[in-house]
Amino acid sequence: EKEGYPHFMLKEMNEEPKAVSDTLSPRIKDGKIVIDELNMTDEQIRAVKKIFIVACGSAYHTGVTGKYVMEGLARIPVEVDLASEFRYRNPILEEGTLVIVISQSGETADSLAALREAKSRGIATLGIINVVGSSIAREADNVMYTWAGPEIAVATTKAYSTQLIALYLLSIHFAEVRGKISADQTAGMIEDLKQLPEQISMLLSHQTSIQKFANRYLAAEHVFFIGRGIDYAISLEGSLKLKEISYIHSEAYAAGELKHGTISLIEDGRLVVAVMTQPQLFKKTLSNVVEVKSRGAFVMAVTTVGNTEVEKVADYVIYIPETNPYFANSLAIIPLQLFGYYVSIGRGLDPDKPRNLAKSVTVE
Ligand code: M6R
Repeated sequence: EKEGYPHFMLKEMNEEPKAVSDTLSPRIKDGKIVIDELNMTDEQIRAVKKIFIVACGSAYHTGVTGKYVMEGLARIPVEVDLASEFRYRNPILEEGTLVIVISQSGETADSLAALREAKSRGIATLGIINVVGSSIAREADNVMYTWAGPEIAVATTKAYSTQLIALYLLSIHFAEVRGKISADQTAGMIEDLKQLPEQISMLLSHQTSIQKFANRYLAAEHVFFIGRGIDYAISLEGSLKLKEISYIHSEAYAAGELKHGTISLIEDGRLVVAVMTQPQLFKKTLSNVVEVKSRGAFVMAVTTVGNTEVEKVADYVIYIPETNPYFANSLAIIPLQLFGYYVSIGRGLDPDKPRNLAKSVTVE
């Protein structure tokens, strides 16, 4: 069933353009975002005062991006919580709160328990779920399915990409209903969204050069990922992808935090992956790149096409095509998923079955 691919992970990465398109296109009708399955009236959407996004692992990382997009567009305060923390901390759930649970499997024990906690307190819930008919899908008040299809590899790739799409659609829809964005802005964003599948295909076609680069870092002991805002959310996922399948220690840092501790770990040859897709934060992160370079780091940068000045400071630059900055995660994550994959296979590991990990974590 690997259809000629050596691993499910590589097969599933190559399915990302289709998965994104399948999640996106049924919800764009006559140039408008229509989320049929969302059983919320406009009045209910306008009454939302606060959103909690609750999830584990990579799904939590999409939630971190979702916070930036939802707050930025719809101006609703969003708190992102790890399900295993949320359920035990007696969260303040007041009237007007919406709890969004994100899960590929729909069976993650902590995410399910968090959903039940919210429901038992009379709070509206929405699941962003990939597996049809799974426990969370059955129990949530509303479900928005991600149409990634079955995902076998332990390291999520295509499901992650579709969760991002669901969050963008929801954020734009909420922003529209609440009168925070104009019809023109929505139309522009829809145009950008529609281009994502093709842009992802283009990024996937750079596999060989990323593999070549990855092969230089097979013996790395520590890797740091840095970025600000959505770039920080991308860093969190890039770092998890690398560590879970390559067993190389890696950490993601909000770039502005470097000076508060991590920079002491930077030494000659240390690999730092800098994510720089957000125009308003570009210069700030660039100055962090200069700082780590001057301490001997080797820098791989992921940035938007046209930002050629990065080449003056970084050692290896991957360009992603132009898109709305809110959607940059969907593009920047592709080379980082490929990087994790190629480091893993370069080290002779099986990326589909990393040690100690299960595809779906149904115990606490
Ligand atoms: O099925 P879920 O989306 O609820 O799973 C959540 C995490 O266990 C999952 O994202 C995990 O972190 C992946 N191995 C990451 O690649």
